Amino acid sequence: MLDAAVSLAYVVAAGLFVLALKWLSAPATARHGVLAGEIGMFLAIIGTLLRTHVASYQWIVVGVVLGSAIGTPMGLFMPMTAVPQRTALSHAFGALAAALVGTGEYYLQAPRVGTFTMTALAVEVLLGSLTFTGSLMAFGKLQGLLPGRPITYRGQNVMNLSLLAAAVALAALVVARPGLTMLFPLIVALALVFGVLLVIPIGGADMPTVISLLNSYAGLSAAAMGFVLSNDLLIIAGALDGSSGFILSMIMCRAMNRSFSNVLFGAFGRVKEGPAAAAPEKPVRSATPEEAASILAAARSVIVVPGYGMAVAQAQHQVRELYDAITRRGVDVKFAIHPVAGRMPGHMNVLLAEADIPYDRLLGLEDANPALAEADVALVVGANDITNPAARHDRTSPIYGMPILDVDRAGVVMVIKRSMRPGFAGIENELYYLDKTLMLFGDAKAFVAEITKELAEGGRVPAPAARPEPAAARR
Ligand code: TAP
Repeated sequence: MLDAAVSLAYVVAAGLFVLALKWLSAPATARHGVLAGEIGMFLAIIGTLLRTHVASYQWIVVGVVLGSAIGTPMGLFMPMTAVPQRTALSHAFGALAAALVGTGEYYLQAPRVGTFTMTALAVEVLLGSLTFTGSLMAFGKLQGLLPGRPITYRGQNVMNLSLLAAAVALAALVVARPGLTMLFPLIVALALVFGVLLVIPIGGADMPTVISLLNSYAGLSAAAMGFVLSNDLLIIAGALDGSSGFILSMIMCRAMNRSFSNVLFGAFGRVKEGPAAAAPEKPVRSATPEEAASILAAARSVIVVPGYGMAVAQAQHQVRELYDAITRRGVDVKFAIHPVAGRMPGHMNVLLAEADIPYDRLLGLEDANPALAEADVALVVGANDITNPAARHDRTSPIYGMPILDVDRAGVVMVIKRSMRPGFAGIENELYYLDKTLMLFGDAKAFVAEITKELAEGGRVPAPAARPEPAAARR
């Protein structure tokens, strides 16, 4: 009877995990996805606690209390802008758990471990260990505790591959002869060092891809643990986690026009040294909130491009008010969302959903670019790298090849940011020096609120030099 209840809980949980992934893939259903995942995980935990394999609840209670004491404040108090590093920490903890369970199982069972179980154990511990240290490195880089730029040296790839080959060769030896217990700590040590060396040469704009790749490794490690512990749900959940992390990594690679090997071995995020990285004294045109309001009031179509700065300023509610104010004047307003805008996948979608921006106003990269070419005004709110035209033509730029939002093809471009400082990739944005670009210097929240106030008061003074040119006249 109990076994049947556990099996039922597992089947329902597995179904909910699949539905969660499906629903999470669209903004309109994402909330249902989160709820389905939570209910699925609750059922999975209850089902596992009811299994007859559980010998004592004492240490489980200690683990639950300790985990909750760490996880609850992390969930409640870490700001949205710190979610990438929080995610890296979660992967580190998950992978550490898998590596520790694998190590414990090995010493409990050795030398009488079957070849299949031993193979699963080796995969679990190798992936778990390298993901643990790799994720800690990613956390350190994103949190600013370690240099965010790629750390590279001569012969690095050879060194890394040799280390991995040595760990895999030793693991294969232990699979063949599980009694060689003295080799096991060496395998763990090599995997831990490999995790560090794998992540230090990666930096800059490649970090999001690495985080989702580490997510994938943690999932695969958990799936291997499912084989070791004969737990079907762990195999399913781990495989879903592993494959969805891998698919996300591929989507992000595509969004940045990178191959996996380029991300892992190319040190793509390296910030360009020399004159282009320095801030040259070139003239830019700036405008006041009043002038910006006039331009928006005269436009027929406006595309808002949010970026990391909107998240930092927490300006999403002010952006919503501006959207209402412009829409009331009969202007067509849409939002262009770049897949790597902000600091985590879906960052802009989450913020705009929080401000109740209708989902049908959001355009993905492919739909946004034709719309930008037709738009009278592109209003960039705290975005930088994702709008940099250098990605299209400058082969020396570290972001060359990354698909961007073509804001420079709109009639007028207005950019809200506080200064001429670069964005995440650390490079200058040539967009700011175009004749059609107006810089709106200030904090995104305050500046957007000022524009809305001006619009409410009538958007009085037009700015003749920057009046939007009709799309038809531009063709
Ligand atoms: P960024 O290129 O980082 O630019 C953000 C801009 O916002 C900065 O230039 C900054 O300029 C401005 N800003 C900051 N605080 C502001 C405030 N309070 N008010 C107004 N502006 C403010 O952002 P992006 O265009 O969204 O591009 C994202 C970058 O992050 C890409 O390079 C991407 O590869 C990388 N990345 C993405 C992810 C994911 S998964 N989305 C994860 C990690 C890294 P000022 O300082 O002059 O204000």
